[in-house]
Amino acid sequence: MMNRRQFLLATSAGAAAWAIGWPQRSSWAAAPDAPRESLRIAFFTDIHTRVEWETPEALRLTARLINERKPDLVICGGDCITDGFQNGRDVVAPRWKAFRESLFELVEPTTEVAMGNHDIVGAMPEDGSAPEADPRSMFREELGIKEIYRSFDAGGYHVILLDGVQITRDEVKYRGFIDDEQMKWLRDDVSRVDATTPIILVTHMPLLSSFQAATLGNDVPAPRNRAIVNNREVLEVFKRHHLPLVLQGHNHVNELLRWRDTTFITGGAVCAKWWRGPWFGTEEGFGVVTLRKENVDWEYVDIGWTARRPPNQ
Ligand SMILES: [Fe+2]
Repeated sequence: MMNRRQFLLATSAGAAAWAIGWPQRSSWAAAPDAPRESLRIAFFTDIHTRVEWETPEALRLTARLINERKPDLVICGGDCITDGFQNGRDVVAPRWKAFRESLFELVEPTTEVAMGNHDIVGAMPEDGSAPEADPRSMFREELGIKEIYRSFDAGGYHVILLDGVQITRDEVKYRGFIDDEQMKWLRDDVSRVDATTPIILVTHMPLLSSFQAATLGNDVPAPRNRAIVNNREVLEVFKRHHLPLVLQGHNHVNELLRWRDTTFITGGAVCAKWWRGPWFGTEEGFGVVTLRKENVDWEYVDIGWTARRPPNQ
């Protein structure tokens, strides 16, 4: 028989294990045509790299935890650095350096990065200086990326990375939009994929999310700088293909959403509430999705970071 103390220890340990396991893990049946081999993807997003508040240490911790999971593929959903849009190259150069040295260059295998709105540099400089001629150039230079929207094959899947940010320089600065040129590229790319090959789509700005409805109410649509506004046009491209998975960022919350045959994962954020702690219950972390023949496993890994950003900053 357990005494009272042993009983309390046993039940609190059980409760702790349950709390850790839920709701950060989920499994579901794979699509009937899922490839035989398994593919483990580490998906980290919304890092908002700063050099303050000891945050490079959180990036090194993230890199270590990603490598421990031995992913076959590592994907970053963008916003590698913070506030590039309204700053010049000089301001954000130390942030790019910290992102590369504390996370990007430490992770194996090499991370495929989808661009976020914060990764655009000098689009609307607040100091009155002239805007960059090509505000996407620093992102490409820093990470050695030739084409921002691109595709590749991995483990029997076709992976497509989109550039979903259109600079508008209006009152909300940019919007989520796939322009005509990229839509044409996307249609061409998908038309060359065999109909039985499953496709994984990666976009910083969400194509579908319940974030606005959950946080602001059902009568508030997502503003145009919070989601891709021509999402139906984009998803229509895949109607004769299998699109089992969409990986997206921007909202900083861990969300799983199933619409028809597609699971949309919004990947939390390494920086959570912009380094101020949890954001709508999502801790600093990243995701791991393991695609197998029979089932798909999802885990949101809390990196266990304690926010050090002062409340007044
Ligand atoms: Fe972000």
